[in-house]
Amino acid sequence: MKEQILNLLKEENDFISGQKISDKLGVSRTAIWKHINILRKEGYNIESVSNKGYKLISAPDILTLSEIQPYLKTSYIGRTIFHLDTIDSTNKKAKELASNVDIQEGCIVISEEQTGGKGRLGRRWISPKSKGIWMSIILKPNIEPSDAAIVTQIGAAAVYSAIKNMGLNAYIKWPNDIVINSRKVCGILTEMNAELSRINYIIMGMGINANLEEDEINEEIKGIATSLKIEANSLISRKELVAEILNNFEQLYNDFVYNNNIKHAINICKQASILLGKQISIISKGKKVLAKALDLNDKGELVVKYDDGTKGNIISGEVSVRGLDWYV
Ligand code: BTN
Repeated sequence: MKEQILNLLKEENDFISGQKISDKLGVSRTAIWKHINILRKEGYNIESVSNKGYKLISAPDILTLSEIQPYLKTSYIGRTIFHLDTIDSTNKKAKELASNVDIQEGCIVISEEQTGGKGRLGRRWISPKSKGIWMSIILKPNIEPSDAAIVTQIGAAAVYSAIKNMGLNAYIKWPNDIVINSRKVCGILTEMNAELSRINYIIMGMGINANLEEDEINEEIKGIATSLKIEANSLISRKELVAEILNNFEQLYNDFVYNNNIKHAINICKQASILLGKQISIISKGKKVLAKALDLNDKGELVVKYDDGTKGNIISGEVSVRGLDWYV
């Protein structure tokens, strides 16, 4: 009901009487008053004038479906959003939800803050309130579990394209980081629940540093992390960015899952790659190996040439890849 009242206020874009809302939605004026007060507590500035009714003056910067919807062009990705004020980890919450058969693919969990955000390789992901986009997409694709790594590439391509569209000079650092000026602005954590030949669900968690200031970047990651606001030198509309990422994601994901076509996403990842053609170090199980990054194959694996001349395909799983003289 709260959402419906909000939609009416947005549609009207002027004063709308309590009676009109009551007639349209079939609820009492007292109930409307209660919902208006809840909306105000969420940060909506709603003016009320006797004999005129209610008028929406301004909306808060929150990532609810009502705020994201006007920019959304998808048919199923992001059409259901669980929006939370705070949570330990959206990936964790998404996993709990995904195991329920009634939860459809494309459903999203977004939190304004994470108190126990998870990064890859057991690292933590610092997620301060309303400063970033901390979201997890629930996917239930009918693909082989061995193909699941491609979904991370699709996610990276979707975020990269949205950031690039803002005019920023971003790169993808395989397998799951977006970097600007050699500093990380986004990380993706893909987790899967599967049987031998069947995926139950994939959770794709995206963490995007949107509006952090330089002095808000945690000491632990100073020098290796940045934010879109720092790089663009202007405030980022998180709701528009979320919508654009989801719009991009749905197209690339549909291509892959329903048309078996991964070319477009892989091409974006190749063309945006900060690693290809460079000497890199690959760190796996505590061991470090040097190699040259040659290509990305259609499975989303990194094709490398080792110093002894042999070639290999690196799977994203438990590896950390670094440039020789720069971060992560
Ligand atoms: C990484 O680069 O290590 C991956 C970071 C992924 C962070 C996101 S934030 C939303 C989602 N929930 C989590 O706990 N982690 C991911």
